[in-house]
Amino acid sequence: MEIRHAKGVTSRQARTGWPEGTYEDEHGRNGFSGEVSMLYRAHPPTRWTRIEGDLKPRAIDSLAVQPTDQLDPAGIPERILHNSDVHVYVSRRREAMSYYMRNADGDEIYFVHTGRGTVESDYGPLPYETGDYVVVPKGTNYRIVPDVPDNFFLIVESRKGPVTFPDRGLFGQHLPFDFALLQTPDPQPAPDETEPREYELRIKRADRWTRVYHDFCPLDVVGWTGNLSVYKLNVRDLRGPSSERTHLPPISYATFQCPGFWVVTFQPKPFETAPDAVRVPSYHRNVDYDEVVFTHSGRLMSRAADQGAATLTLHPAGIHHGPNPRAFEAAKKLDRMEAYLVNIDSEQPLAWTQAFTDAEDPGYWATFSDQPVRVDGGQA
Ligand SMILES: [Fe+2]
Repeated sequence: MEIRHAKGVTSRQARTGWPEGTYEDEHGRNGFSGEVSMLYRAHPPTRWTRIEGDLKPRAIDSLAVQPTDQLDPAGIPERILHNSDVHVYVSRRREAMSYYMRNADGDEIYFVHTGRGTVESDYGPLPYETGDYVVVPKGTNYRIVPDVPDNFFLIVESRKGPVTFPDRGLFGQHLPFDFALLQTPDPQPAPDETEPREYELRIKRADRWTRVYHDFCPLDVVGWTGNLSVYKLNVRDLRGPSSERTHLPPISYATFQCPGFWVVTFQPKPFETAPDAVRVPSYHRNVDYDEVVFTHSGRLMSRAADQGAATLTLHPAGIHHGPNPRAFEAAKKLDRMEAYLVNIDSEQPLAWTQAFTDAEDPGYWATFSDQPVRVDGGQA
C-alpha cells in the first residue's frame, strides 16, 4: 500500500512523543524498513498476565552453557540456536584444539566475548582478542590456539551462503568502518613437529563429522592470492551513525549480511536530545525476524538494569517486546548508551537446544509486564 493514512489519535510524526495515555506500537514488515503503521494503544502490549505456549521472550546466561571444548582440547562448541540459515554456538575453549577443523556447512563468524590467542589457518596465523569478529570462510582448515584459558566465543554459522558486508548506500565508504582496517593473515605454514605423528583434520558437513588423518600438518599453505580469506575487525573500530533527533532502527548498525539473517552491532552512542524525541524503542512484534541479542558489555536502553554480560536473549517474531517498565525512568537519567551488543536478526524461526533450555531464566518474559505475572503458569 503506497498511501499513508493517519486515523484517530496519533503522534504528529512517528517516534516524536506518544499522545497522552498511549503506547506506540510499531507494526511493520521486513524488520523496520518495510511497510509500517504506528499503532497508539491504550495499554502496553507486553502487559501480559500469563503466556501459554512457546512464543515468549527468552533469556539465557550463556556463561552457564558448558561446551565440551571447555574441558577437552578435542571437544567442540555447543549449539544453542538453529534454523536452516543460521546456527549459533557457544565455545569456551581453554586450550589449543587437538585437531584441525574444516567447516563445510558454512562460513563462521567468531565473536570474541573474552579471550586472546591465535586463529591458525590455511591463510596464516591471525591473532584474536576481546571484541574481535573473526570470519572464517566455509571450507578453511583452521585451529584455535588460545594464549589465555578464559576464552568465550559466540559462533554464528551462515548455512546458506557467504558472510558479506551490507551495502553502504548513502552513508558512503567509511561508515560503519573503513575497510582498510580489516586484518587478513600472511601465509605461514606450520612446521611439522619433530616426532612423526598423525594430524587429525575434522570435516563437518550436514552436521556430520568425518576425520581425515595426515602425516603432515594440514596448515601447509606457503602462499595465497585472491579475495577469499580469514579476516577480522574489532567492535571498538565500529563507527555507526547516531541521531540527535530520532531513534535509529537497528539495521543502521548492521555489520554483516548473510542469506536469511543479519548481524548487527549495537555500540556506544549519545541518546537523542531533541525535546520531542522518544528515547526508548517503540513496542514491536517484529513479524519478519526473530531477534537474538548477546550482551558483550553494558546494556540496551530497553532492558532491565540487572542483565549481565554474556546474557543472550531470543525475542521470537510475532510476540511483542519493547521497553522494560523500568526503562522509561532510566532513559531520563542517562545521556549515553555505553554498550556493545551483538544482535542476530533471523528471517526463519529459530529453534533452541537443550543446552539453551538448561541455561534459561524462566522469568525473563515476565519482566516486560508492568503488572504482576504468574511465571509458573506461563511455562510452555
Ligand atoms: Fe526488537
